[in-house]
Amino acid sequence: MPDTKTENLIGESTTRRHFLQAIGMGTGLIGLNAFVNPAEALAQCAAPASATAAKAWGRDCRRILPRRPASSLSSSEITKLKDAYHAMRVLDTSDPSDPRGFKRQANIHCWFCTEAAASVHVHFNWKFFAFHRAYLYFHERILGKLIGDMDFRLPYWDWDVSSHRKLPGAYTSPNNSSNPLWNSTREMSPTDELPDEDVGEDVMDAALEAADFTEFGGTAGVPGIPEGAPHGNVHNDVGGDAGDMAYFETAAKDPVFYAHHSNVDKIWSDWNKGSSSHTNPTSSTFLNLSWNFYDENKVWRSITAAQVLNHENQLRYVYGPSRFSEILPCLLDWVVIRTDWRVSKTLRLAPAARTSISRVLGSRGRVRLHLTDVTVPMDKSAVYRIYASPEAARKDEGPGGDGYLGTLPVVLSSRKSQLNHTRTRNAVLNISGRKFETLSRAQGPMQLTLVERGRKESERKPIRVTAADSHFTVADVER
Ligand code: C2O
Repeated sequence: MPDTKTENLIGESTTRRHFLQAIGMGTGLIGLNAFVNPAEALAQCAAPASATAAKAWGRDCRRILPRRPASSLSSSEITKLKDAYHAMRVLDTSDPSDPRGFKRQANIHCWFCTEAAASVHVHFNWKFFAFHRAYLYFHERILGKLIGDMDFRLPYWDWDVSSHRKLPGAYTSPNNSSNPLWNSTREMSPTDELPDEDVGEDVMDAALEAADFTEFGGTAGVPGIPEGAPHGNVHNDVGGDAGDMAYFETAAKDPVFYAHHSNVDKIWSDWNKGSSSHTNPTSSTFLNLSWNFYDENKVWRSITAAQVLNHENQLRYVYGPSRFSEILPCLLDWVVIRTDWRVSKTLRLAPAARTSISRVLGSRGRVRLHLTDVTVPMDKSAVYRIYASPEAARKDEGPGGDGYLGTLPVVLSSRKSQLNHTRTRNAVLNISGRKFETLSRAQGPMQLTLVERGRKESERKPIRVTAADSHFTVADVER
């Protein structure tokens, strides 16, 4: 795998150099670094800078109101939602300098995800949940202001509910440019459904049962569980390998992005409510993280992570109950099972670990396989399936099939440059009794293998990968 990656990198940078020369930009303009062209990226999504210093965000005195599932909006709520996005899109042409216009709103996301310094990037680390909450908050207030209704709240696309796996109706009906909630680049059609594999129980359990914030929301340098699956999968499913949603630089150009992220935000809220140990970081490094946004009156504001932690009292919106939190069993402490699955090329399960895992599975407890720093292909955004062997990957039987472990979504920051793309991903996979059986049946060491989902058998290319670390955690249930 590392070889293929190097080739990709070299191939890409060569193409890029030729392209730059062809349009009359030598390396002079961009310095000696032929891999990067910040000028080009900035033209597309400039830093949302302001001449004046940002004013600190203060109190919100709106009424505390629920954000509602996008699938169950009334027709008057749908009209409001469409009117609000319509007004936002009108600003794009009537006053392109208005920071509340739809393109300017979408480009905020672009700036925070691409060629900006890696320290700005709001993905792959603990900024993920807090930044997106703050971003959606200002976005929601702007939409409300534009329709003269500060009671307006963003809807959320509750794809975790199995009957709501299609794009919410408002966003696809009509499915053309007369609908301000439509986007022309979606690969997902109005009748397609998100696969259970991406947003179903296995994935939701792993997210909502994350033991602490490090697991759930990550650290300064590592992402938490749900940022990969389900969050990344939904980006890939809506955007395919070329659509806006599939790349962070363009994702927010699709209005469904905000409904998707509202649900991601709800998952954070649900996780917080799930257990007294599900608390947010208290370090000042985290609490003092801050971002600037234009508010609904075009005032440049700064808001900190500390200010978004209590969405109900601080940001004035609530979510309905979580169906998932209600059905989750009461788990006792998570225990790590260190095994000799730590080798980088092949992973072998020790007999003692096998016994403990079988016991926990037998008593309806939870078993998870943690894979850290799995090398992934970087040539496009895609969902990969993880298999325990190249043979199983070649067969690609999917969930329930032989050697199947789960999915690994790869959402790239940008189509153009590999700068600031992280080259590895973490995955935390729920291991059911059936998955474990197929693992146990396979004699010998496991060989972690990815295969891009949705490929015909003749085009399937299993990709052997390495992980920096792998281990199990198990939790018994209270009986
Ligand atoms: Cu900032 Cu779903 O990405």
